[in-house]
Amino acid sequence: MKYYIGIDLGTSSVKLMLVNSDGNVKNTVTKEYPVFYPHSGWSEQNPSDWWNAICQAIPELLRDYDGQLVSGIGIAGQMHGLVILDRDDNVIRPAILWNDGRTEAETAYLNNTVGKDKLFEYTGNIAFAGFTAPKLLWLHKNEPESFAKISKIMLPKDYINYILTGTHCTDYSDASGMLLLDVKNKRWSPQMLDICGISESQMPRLYESFEVIGKFKAELAEKFGINKNAVVVAGAGDNAAAAIGTATVGNGKCNISLGTSGTVFVSNDSFSGDETQAIHSFCHADGGYHLMGCILSAASCNKWFCDEILNTKNYKAEEEAISELGKNEVFFLPYLMGERSPINDVNATGMFIGLRPNTSRADMYSAVLEGVAFAIKDNLEIIRQFGIDVKSSCLCGGGAKSKLWRKILANVLDIELNVPMTEQGPGYGSAILAMVGAGQFDNLRSATDRFFEIKETVRPDRALVALYADRYEKYRRIYPAVKELYKKIKE
Ligand code: XUL
Repeated sequence: MKYYIGIDLGTSSVKLMLVNSDGNVKNTVTKEYPVFYPHSGWSEQNPSDWWNAICQAIPELLRDYDGQLVSGIGIAGQMHGLVILDRDDNVIRPAILWNDGRTEAETAYLNNTVGKDKLFEYTGNIAFAGFTAPKLLWLHKNEPESFAKISKIMLPKDYINYILTGTHCTDYSDASGMLLLDVKNKRWSPQMLDICGISESQMPRLYESFEVIGKFKAELAEKFGINKNAVVVAGAGDNAAAAIGTATVGNGKCNISLGTSGTVFVSNDSFSGDETQAIHSFCHADGGYHLMGCILSAASCNKWFCDEILNTKNYKAEEEAISELGKNEVFFLPYLMGERSPINDVNATGMFIGLRPNTSRADMYSAVLEGVAFAIKDNLEIIRQFGIDVKSSCLCGGGAKSKLWRKILANVLDIELNVPMTEQGPGYGSAILAMVGAGQFDNLRSATDRFFEIKETVRPDRALVALYADRYEKYRRIYPAVKELYKKIKE
């Protein structure tokens, strides 16, 4: 028997998973760390907090298992975050995260002055505030002394891979979200590097997600009691890794994730994209491509409303108080951190509309869950415009654990939702990548086919679908009506 470690470097926590060669999850350990919001709409983390959390988690993960049987390690990470190292490989400043909205001016410069058509030609994508390239422009302007010190630019999970192996590398799926990669041709874009004032020597080396980047460093192998021949693979962006975990590989398969962010991910064997739509065209961890729409606040809306506003941790009790679906008069826009896809607006904020004296706590809570589902639908509708007919999808992420939310989502989207047997998509997906890297499988698809199992399928109900179609038509009108107001309120 061999073991593999899959790491999911998330925004609120890191989750480590020990998986055996039969694909069974033997142990999982989660360690939390803080997010810092130094200004409204900004978000940062300390890379040292990620590593310290992993150092605490590994001994717990292996407590009852033989670390000498670990053959491979794979990591999935929150995407787009800017980690910069100086020439001694010290972290220069805190990482600027994927949901940070400080780069409004830089994003506008890229989309309007450089032009969306050029960006699409160079990278296959347009600019969003959370992407890495606008962060580099921001840094150049606002923290020139930090910018001048940059020796290596990395994404969050790549920093951990650097500590584990000593190599500066990334994988195509995660690199796609930097707006520095020519996604279609899988190479750094010389034009984008030029626009951002950086050179290719500052960029990490590119790998496929399942390729081995090195071995666990000898001193770490000794410290953690892990086999010194255990290989480390390049790993993937968390959404691509989750898609591997849910066997979302090949043409037209869909995975929806309700994590801190919410994503609609459709895998594709060949590249496709469109500069007029705010949907991402990225490389997949299986060597192919994918389309993805990302909303910045999904399960985080649920957490915010329960923890901060209702002051409860008992989410189940809040769900049980919702007696009827589809008839709510309250709407919620889930733009707590601004929004990425499809509206691409850093000024957007969360908003309730439709409150009356008889509005209940349950009405407001169900509006939150429905608002996230409607925002996911906005993305699915755009993916459908690419001629992809999504009739069913896998569902993963923390939000997928809620039976009520699964039902709302299946009926809002009017598709079947398959809940996988193994819940933790990105960690499981990265353990599978490690299996391929360590040679247990010849290729990724044979691994995903072997391990994927559906636990439950949620089917839409015609009457509820009709009620939600009506509510969605109303929901869709709210943002365009307040778009200009958002800008004015910010001034
Ligand atoms: C995807 C994105 C988020 C983060 C969350 O483009 O920004 O899903 O990867 O960790």
